[in-house]
Amino acid sequence: MNAKEITAKYLKFYESKQHATISSVSLIPENDPTVLFTTAGMHPLVPFLLGQPHPRGKKLANVQKCLRTDDIDEVGDGCHHTFFFMLGNWSLGDYFKKEAIEMSWEFLTSPKWLGMPKEKIAVTCFGGDKDAPKDEESAKVWVSLGVPKECIFFNGKKDNWWGPAGQTGPCGPDTEMFYYTGRQDCACDQHGCGPGCHCGKWVEIWNDVFMEYNKTKDGKFEKLKQQNVDTGMGLERVAAVMQNAPSDYETELFKPLTDWLKKNVKRQDVKSMRIIADHLRAAVFVLADDKGVAPSNVEHGYILRRLIRRAIRHAHGLGVEGRFCKKLAEIVVKIYGDEWLELKRNQAFVYSELEKEEQRFAETLERGLHEFEKIFAQANGKLSGEHAFLLYQSYGFPLEMTVELAKEKKGSVDEKAFAAALEKHQELSRESCKQKFSSGLADYSEKTVALHTATHLLQAALRQVVGTHVQQKGSNITPERLRFDFTHGEKMTAEQIKKVEELANKWIAEGIAVNRKEESLAEAQKEGALAFFAAKYDEKVSVYTIGSASKEVCTGPHVDNTSRLGKFKILKEEAVSAGVRRIKAVLEH
Ligand code: SER
Repeated sequence: MNAKEITAKYLKFYESKQHATISSVSLIPENDPTVLFTTAGMHPLVPFLLGQPHPRGKKLANVQKCLRTDDIDEVGDGCHHTFFFMLGNWSLGDYFKKEAIEMSWEFLTSPKWLGMPKEKIAVTCFGGDKDAPKDEESAKVWVSLGVPKECIFFNGKKDNWWGPAGQTGPCGPDTEMFYYTGRQDCACDQHGCGPGCHCGKWVEIWNDVFMEYNKTKDGKFEKLKQQNVDTGMGLERVAAVMQNAPSDYETELFKPLTDWLKKNVKRQDVKSMRIIADHLRAAVFVLADDKGVAPSNVEHGYILRRLIRRAIRHAHGLGVEGRFCKKLAEIVVKIYGDEWLELKRNQAFVYSELEKEEQRFAETLERGLHEFEKIFAQANGKLSGEHAFLLYQSYGFPLEMTVELAKEKKGSVDEKAFAAALEKHQELSRESCKQKFSSGLADYSEKTVALHTATHLLQAALRQVVGTHVQQKGSNITPERLRFDFTHGEKMTAEQIKKVEELANKWIAEGIAVNRKEESLAEAQKEGALAFFAAKYDEKVSVYTIGSASKEVCTGPHVDNTSRLGKFKILKEEAVSAGVRRIKAVLEH
């Protein structure tokens, strides 16, 4: 059974149980500021898990694109990935443990659906602690379905509790289903191998989470208004099980990639080839996302950069000749493009960003590796923060890559000292930025950041109401107010002021997402972004887009959504000099 058939069966099964099928959302979450990427199907559903009614009802199912980097070191075994597809079903305050577990079991074992042999499945449940009791209820349901007691294991929070680690939000105990693949030869059986062992014999295929708690900022677990179910099944793993494949990489989801690699490497190293296939598949899906993330040194762009550069480093190690990222990206688009239309829609961007990143990194990789070897020898395998920073700054080595290289040679990196070196550098460049732009931000307080975004809305509204001759001449922001100087020859009328306020407040009321992307000034200007200061044409700049209202080159930072701004009000409009006017405005809460 291939992945497409598994997905179709899954959605059909849950449809037959009155679940509405919802679509996968972007890999960049909109509703959950606690994560950079959508790491599970529950992220876009957080408001609904907290009690807001969902327009499609209380029972939902879908297949969601996910990206996680916490398992990145395990990628290379047969069943861990950074990017993966999660099949999920949700009860938003509807059914709970009994029904969720019964449906999981039916789908997995009924010959009408997946028909997995029951004796190959074991389960784990939450063992209880100070925050929540032992989950006897789930265990009882498993027993009632015929799962032998010796195949039910209890664990603590680390293994059987779901909720993004250390973060706030909906969470709860879970029960996980493991399939015995017996895949690899290992001695684990002799010292208690079982579900959760990383030997590869037991593979976790599905997780039913019972979200009835909300973790608060001060680390407390409060009962939610409603009892929810959040389940996640890994499509790649289930496909491997259903095809009796030796690993996820031998299923049709990866095989064309690993086949290409096998033909084009000089040294066959299974782990490295899997890393390359995994990371480039992930990079293609991130680049193809309509949010338009490109490689950079911050946030989403940095994770993307790490993935691409790690893949390139491994390919270099295997002796792949010439540029290869685009070739593998084309294979990814071929495998997934018919189902995930964004891959085709955005393929030109995907290829060009990959080519640019590969070009940038290829120029320094060889020299950087050489430098690494030199430093490693000099430092007796103990790299300082300054060493790692040098490799980062001069050769484009993400910290994690230097750490990995050092570990491979049984050395280490002072990661804390790297962070300090980076911070020192950022402070220096922030200082120089402040000098470069008269509108440099003096502080990053919430109020200041909100006023900064309001300034973009003000400029956009002025250009609509007063005319496109309006250009920023200066800006000064304190936590209390914004001050904006712009080109315009005469006093604004009371009506114009009112219209500008109304327009800005309309955009605020619409709750428009503020998106940031990095590109060259040339690219930004081609897309119509406003840029009123001196920067080199080929220099990378940040472009902030607020829906169709505003697009400006700016150093930021900004709020993530206009809904955070409060009410925009102009206090004063006056002349500064010939042809330049000044507005003072505030945000009222
Ligand atoms: N949120 C859970 C997980 O990611 C179930 O979907 O495993």
